[in-house]
Amino acid sequence: MFKAGIFAVTSVAVVAGIVTFFSGAHISRADIDAGKLYATHCVTCHDANGKPTDIGAALESSDLSDAAWQAKATDEQIIKQINDGTPEKMEAFKEKLSPDEVNALVTVVRSFGKK
Ligand code: HEC
Repeated sequence: MFKAGIFAVTSVAVVAGIVTFFSGAHISRADIDAGKLYATHCVTCHDANGKPTDIGAALESSDLSDAAWQAKATDEQIIKQINDGTPEKMEAFKEKLSPDEVNALVTVVRSFGKK
């Protein structure tokens, strides 16, 4: 009886958590803070200005603010890099970020090329 009670309470908490998660995700979709996403997920390796951090440089990341890199990279390549990453260098974000969030990050990456 006691165990069943704990189970019921846990189930309610889990359902409430799921509802909160999805409504929260819905709100953020309409209002994506691209700068915050970048600051949360990317600045360990790519600095706030797109240049590699020490960690990024050690992993041989490109300088995302470099004009030659910007001219060469297509939006499709940037989207693919964020979604799929590179094994042992950059993690894949497709499980963590929605397509809208990835598109917002492309805008951030492009902003590094504008001096
Ligand atoms: C753990 C470190 C790390 C994190 C975190 C990281 N990256 Fe990277 N990133 C790298 C490395 C290293 C490379 C070079 C990969 C290669 O050579 O294939 C790279 C490559 C890239 C490239 C392509 C550069 C090129 O050479 O074509 C883009 C664009 C990029 N990252 C954007 C991002 C964005 C946006 C985020 C956040 C969502 C992010 N990265 C998070 C390490 C990281």
